[in-house]
Amino acid sequence: MSQSKRFALLAERDINKETFVEAWPDAGLIVADGPNDPAPSLTVESNRVAEMDGKLRADFDAIDTFIADHFLDLRAAGEAMATSSLRLARMLVDINVPAREVRRLALGCTPAKLCEVVRHMNVLEMMMGLAKMRVRKTPANQAHVTNRRENPALLAADAAEAALRGFAEIETTVGVARMAPLNALCVLIGSQTGRGGVLTQCAIEESMGLRLAMKGLTTYAETLSVYGTERSFVDGDDTPWSKAFLASAYASRGVKIRFTSGTGSEALMGSSEGKSMLYLEARCLCVVRGAGSQGVQNGSISCIALPESLPGGVRAVLAENLIAAMLGLEVASGNDALASHSAIRKSAKLMLQFIPGTDFIFSGYSAVPRRDNMFGGGNFDAEDFDDYNVLQRDMQVDGGLRPVTEGEALAVRREAARAAQAVYAELGFPDIRDEEVEAAVVAHSSEDMPPRDIVADLAAADRFLAGQQDVRDVVAALRRRGFAGIADNIAEMLHQRMLGDYLQPAAIFVKGSEAQGADSSSQSLSSSGLRVLSALTDPNDYAGPGTGYRLGGARWQEVISLPQVRSPRDFIADRIGTPMQNLHEVGPARRGRFNEVIVCVGPAFGTALTQTINGLDHEAVLKAIFTGVAKEGLVARLIKAYHTSDCAQLGFTASSYSGSGIGIGLQSRGTTVIHKRGMPRLHNLELFSFSPSLTLETFEQIGRNAAKYAKGETVRPVPVTVDNWARLRLIVKTALLHRRETEEVRDRPPQELFFDWEPEV
Ligand code: 5AD
Ligand code: CA
Repeated sequence: MSQSKRFALLAERDINKETFVEAWPDAGLIVADGPNDPAPSLTVESNRVAEMDGKLRADFDAIDTFIADHFLDLRAAGEAMATSSLRLARMLVDINVPAREVRRLALGCTPAKLCEVVRHMNVLEMMMGLAKMRVRKTPANQAHVTNRRENPALLAADAAEAALRGFAEIETTVGVARMAPLNALCVLIGSQTGRGGVLTQCAIEESMGLRLAMKGLTTYAETLSVYGTERSFVDGDDTPWSKAFLASAYASRGVKIRFTSGTGSEALMGSSEGKSMLYLEARCLCVVRGAGSQGVQNGSISCIALPESLPGGVRAVLAENLIAAMLGLEVASGNDALASHSAIRKSAKLMLQFIPGTDFIFSGYSAVPRRDNMFGGGNFDAEDFDDYNVLQRDMQVDGGLRPVTEGEALAVRREAARAAQAVYAELGFPDIRDEEVEAAVVAHSSEDMPPRDIVADLAAADRFLAGQQDVRDVVAALRRRGFAGIADNIAEMLHQRMLGDYLQPAAIFVKGSEAQGADSSSQSLSSSGLRVLSALTDPNDYAGPGTGYRLGGARWQEVISLPQVRSPRDFIADRIGTPMQNLHEVGPARRGRFNEVIVCVGPAFGTALTQTINGLDHEAVLKAIFTGVAKEGLVARLIKAYHTSDCAQLGFTASSYSGSGIGIGLQSRGTTVIHKRGMPRLHNLELFSFSPSLTLETFEQIGRNAAKYAKGETVRPVPVTVDNWARLRLIVKTALLHRRETEEVRDRPPQELFFDWEPEV
């Protein structure tokens, strides 16, 4: 227990739910630059690697052998290894060095060399490197769509909303493995409701994954996992060669693939060989590239909490994304698994990928509520959609999403859920009832869904997988039931697959008109208007300011048009009423007698504006002040300034006309000051700058205090409640009210006002 109340409070903060540990290199608990990591070295004899990173070929394990024989580009290796790592690091951030030059050399670097390069870089430099090395010019985003109850209508509806929100890829998975074919099917249907072109996958055991792809139920595969030590590889029943074989099986069917790796997995699997996480990840990335994969999902992924428990963890995760991009791999850069309890920490971490942009900023943004995320909860969830959209708008950064209206979301959700219902009926699967469709349209989570017989669904899934039906039957079913748009979109995905366009590096598909950076004259536009954006059709050409991807044009308009945006004019419309009828100008202001307090109002008061910022009628405010002054036995007199709208100036003016020397300055928005003649303009007796918290009682008290000052009494300042959020909440309104008042400023001396009202004292 803390003695200090502050330490006690800090202990309760979200950040202190996390685990923080010291490095322990022998257990692999060190993120980078471990004491047991090898120094870079390479010996090539007769065009064959004889030694690498301090190990002779005779001592190579399977991973070393694979890297030496299938990754290293021996045409570049000599030059790359002879170039100082510091120089290579500087090339990464030098806008005058093109990405392809850095990449040519990176492909000749050993794993230890790649680590030595990034060792010289801080996160800012790594972000610059990533902006340049990312392979696709247009950044994108991937969604996770799952639900705890494996409800098909909800899967379809959530996938459709994810597509509407702009995700270029959607990944699903299962609670019960046998459900995979149906989950893949429902997400496919949902993903093609609306614009079409979204790639989908189902994370599942690899041979099942391949079968789903062959049936046409998925269009890409991502979880071909690789590891940085031989032991972890073997425990996963694999070798680099078997992974390469699996990848070619997918490719032979035109399916997009991406491998998965990431810091921390080896330590988690108990076989780190005492090496740092980043060194092992560099080995993974060399294997990924050597196996011919076009891309990788990395950034620790499911293991993220482990590097984050260690010093420099978040930096190391960025470093692994950067190394992947250096090697020319499409990067889906993590941010998928729960990484922190703290909203501050998770958002800060995100910025390292969000600001430079990656091919997929999230390798799974949870487009469902956290508890429905079967990947173990998302780092960002459906609950964070609006926050994310605001971040894009704030920074003018394209994070791959777009704001949507409730109406649009409901429409695509309904169509997708109904389409899934139709396909289930046509293919002889258990009924999706109307009640489920309706619930899925408006649901937030699977809690909102009626129950469903999962046993019957599983039996149908087994039959579907074993039988002859495939995606072509799905397309036909959709056509028969009047879902021609979805049928066309799915058919178009098949068409693109046959064209081989999924196999372009970093391929995503957009409608022709959505493509911003891409070369629109290329062959990539198909008859349906779907086009591929890839490293070939949309290569990243970042070379410093004014180059590369820039968020502008129609896409920027889309990003800034949040449904919650209002016209600034709306903010003050309700503060303008009919001008006060009992307020009359009677001529130029003049000095009065000793027993008075002057109230000097701003030029819009009671005329152009008639209410304070928190909706008090100007008339009521005047009555309150006058009453307060009268209760102290003095008289209040009213003047209006035209030469200024500034509160301090109003107070100063009031005091200069006041017989007692005490004046009250009152702006139309309600900001008030009590001033005494002879004080400097910007000094005062009492200032009430928090106008939104002023009540009529406060205004009466202000009148009383002013009168007391006039009588020379000792005065206790008027208590005001301070609402720290008021400025944040009301700043636009404040600015606009002040602007309106300032519009009334003109070259005219202060005028005496007759306020036609008698205090009841
Ligand atoms: N290294 C390798 N594979 C990983 N996966 C997740 N994190 C890692 C990692 N750090 C893969 C696993 C897992 C799937 C979600 O992604 O295959 O099952
Ligand atoms: Ca993923």
